[in-house]
Order: sequence, then structure tokens, then C-alpha cells
Amino acid sequence: MANVPPPLSAQEFFTPELLRDPYPIYRRYLDGPGLQFLTIHGGVWAAFKHADCSTFLRDPRLSAKRTGTLIDEFPTEKQKEFAELARTLSLWMLFFDAPEHTRLRKLMNKGFSPVAIESLRPQIEKIVHRLLMPLRNNHRMDILPQFAHPLPTYVIAELLSVPDSLHEKFIRWSNAVATVFGNPYRTVDDLVAAQQAIHGLTSYFREAVAVRRRQKGNDLISLLLEIEEDGDVLTEEELYAQCVMLLFGGHETTRNLIGNGLYTLLRHPEQAAELRNNPELIRSAVEELLRYESPVQYTGRMVLQDFEFCGVPARRGQEIIFMLGAANRDGSQFEDPDRLDLKRAKNPHLAFGAGAHFCIGNQLARLEGQVAVLRILQEFPEMRSVSAEPEWLPNFSFRGLKALLVEA
Ligand code: HEM
Repeated sequence: MANVPPPLSAQEFFTPELLRDPYPIYRRYLDGPGLQFLTIHGGVWAAFKHADCSTFLRDPRLSAKRTGTLIDEFPTEKQKEFAELARTLSLWMLFFDAPEHTRLRKLMNKGFSPVAIESLRPQIEKIVHRLLMPLRNNHRMDILPQFAHPLPTYVIAELLSVPDSLHEKFIRWSNAVATVFGNPYRTVDDLVAAQQAIHGLTSYFREAVAVRRRQKGNDLISLLLEIEEDGDVLTEEELYAQCVMLLFGGHETTRNLIGNGLYTLLRHPEQAAELRNNPELIRSAVEELLRYESPVQYTGRMVLQDFEFCGVPARRGQEIIFMLGAANRDGSQFEDPDRLDLKRAKNPHLAFGAGAHFCIGNQLARLEGQVAVLRILQEFPEMRSVSAEPEWLPNFSFRGLKALLVEA
């Protein structure tokens, strides 16, 4: 049996300290057995090491179907109230297993091919330009609501043909859904808000799909429609669910790549200056920003059958959470892992996960990150942070700042 520390409750593990600065805590696990047992949902194993996360995210003894864990700590009466939320989320491809996942993923990959994504570059450049315009006369601003947060929403909304007038509403809805993921302290009110948001988003996409059905375009909804009309892969309801999933996946993560990335660069002004003067470094720089302050800190899987997991017994029905943010600081994979190195050559980070569910939007996120970061550095060479101690959003899975006050 591996030398695992004593079990911890949610309150003992998911602490304000873990939100504020998780890396010293991760280090203790990375230098030790790399595992922690948590006494939530009938037992959860947390895995920290790169090799374990990378291996077991590919293991067929683990299932991606885990939406039940969002509500199972509530009394049965309440669970019934939110069964609809859990069921709707369970239609997201993210929570499918093979063979359904394999079939759908293969078809959806068409919409995310490198050529399809690269063709979006001019649109992304245009959106970045538009968002930066008002900032030019603004001496002091919070760069998150002004730039980092709207950019990914505008991009994914464009892909899904959501009109400008609905962007604000979609950001609110998407945030309401994010609150119930990665938040062991989720409340009944959070679930009510998430359920309403999912209703709102689904109703919108129901109408949008009906319009597209009459006249197909070149967008993601039209692609999903082709998949639906092609046979037994997607039902009508599943189709709306994938639209909501894409909107959510495209927004909650990429905004934190840009926000956390700018925050990190402002704290490393010499490296930011080097990047500004050598724009060809942008690709490796964005990979390093993804590794250094990963927007998704962990993801989970359910154990389908009892098995020995890294020397400990994992029981059917338990959950395993993979601490991607910790794996990305593992010294057995990364030289000097706590040092930011925008020129890092070997960088096999797990910011986009691993295995069958590896992020379908990774190329899009990278492109948005590259365009946004470089443009900000070039247009605002004097930008500096004026935030005191940074405050992080109270979400342990989606790591992002509450605000990033800057002067330019
Ligand atoms: C920096 C930005 C992003 C990060 C860090 C990120 C991270 C991730 C991670 C870690 C996973 C795997 C989750 C798991 O295995 O449980 C994932 C899956 C996924 N992501 Fe992303 N993501 C980003 C951007 C995007 C974008 C822009 C989109 C859509 C336009 C997107 C859509 C998805 C979808 C649909 C899945 C599920 C894929 C599947 O189940 O096959 N993501 N993402």
C-alpha cells in the first residue's frame, strides 16, 4: 500500500489557501506519494503526479459519466428538484463514454480541424481590435471584464451564430453553470441558478437550430445538424446539449488562459519584454502560460470496477480527480517546474487533459491566447498591475482571477 496521508474532508482539502496559492500544497504531494483520499461523495481519490494523470485519464476502467456527483450530497427531495439539471448535463459529449463518445467526437472533430480553426484568425484579430479600442483612452481599468472575459464569448458566439445582443446574458448563464462545477461548497441557490441558465441556453439553441434547419450555414450548429440528420448519433435534445457545452467550454476556460496569462506576464516584466520584442516566441509562451497557471486545475472520472490504483484500492462508484494544475508542476516532467520560462522547449503539459476527452477546442484556445496576449503586450508596452493581493474566484476547478486592475 502506498504511503498515503490520512483522509481529509472537503473542508480540510478545499481551503482558501488552496485557492490563493495551490502550488506549495501540490509540491507536498508531488514530492510524496502523489495521492490524497477525500471523504466526499463516498470517497474520492485525488491524483497529483503527471504520469498518473496522463496514464489513468486514458484508462477504460474509469468513466466520464459523473454528473450525478453534482447533486448527490443533497437530500433526496432536493436531488429530485435538480434531476433535470443533472440529466441535461449528462447529454454533453464531455460526459459520454465509448462507443457513443468516439462516434460523436469523430464527427465533431470536423468543425475543429486545424484548417477550420486557422481560418478564424482574421475574425479573432478583428474582435481583439474592437475590444481594445475603448481601452486606449482608459488609463486605469480592470482588464478582465473589459477584454479577457468577453473575447472568448464573442468568438464562440460567432461560431455558434449567437447575436451580439445576447452576449451579456450568455456570459451570465455560462458563469452560473460554472459555479456548480469544481465547487465542493455549491449551494441549493447555485443549483437553481445553473438549472435556470441551462433552460435559458437550451431554449435559445432550440430556436437557433430550427432556423438553421431551414437554411444551413457554415457554422458549428449546421455541422451538428448534419451529424444529427446523418443517423443515430445525436438526438435533437443531445444536439442542443452540445451547443450549450461548446458555449460553456469555449468561454469558462479561455477567458482564464488570457486573464491568468496577462497576470503572470505582468509579474514577469523581463520575460514579457522579451516576448514583445520577439513575437515568434508566442507559441511556446502560450504553452508555458497554460502550464504555469492552468485554467482547469482538475477534472474527474468515476471508477467502473474495483482495481488497484497507484498502489491503493479504488472501489466501484468512487471518483478519482486528476489534479492537472499539480501535474503541470511535476519536476519529473518539467525542468525547474515552478519557474516561468516562456521559451521552454519540452512542455508536455496536461492543461487540455489527455486521452479520448482531450480538449476539442485546444487549437482555438491557443489561437485566441496567442492573438490576445501578443496584441496587448504590443499595444500597451507600459501596462502594469495595480491590484494589491490578487483575489481568485471561489472555484477550485476553473482557476481565474476576480479582477485584474491595470494601468497602461
Ligand atoms: C485554455 C482554454 C481551454 C482549456 C484549458 C480547456 C481544458 C479542457 C480540458 C482539461 C478538457 C478535458 C476534460 C476531461 O477530460 O474531463 C477539455 C475538454 C473539452 N473542451 Fe476544452 N479547454 C479550453 C478551451 C476550449 C474551447 C475554446 C472549447 C470549445 C470551443 C472547448 C471545448 C471542450 C469540449 C467540448 C471538451 C470535451 C471533449 C470531449 O469530451 O471529447 N474547450 N477542455
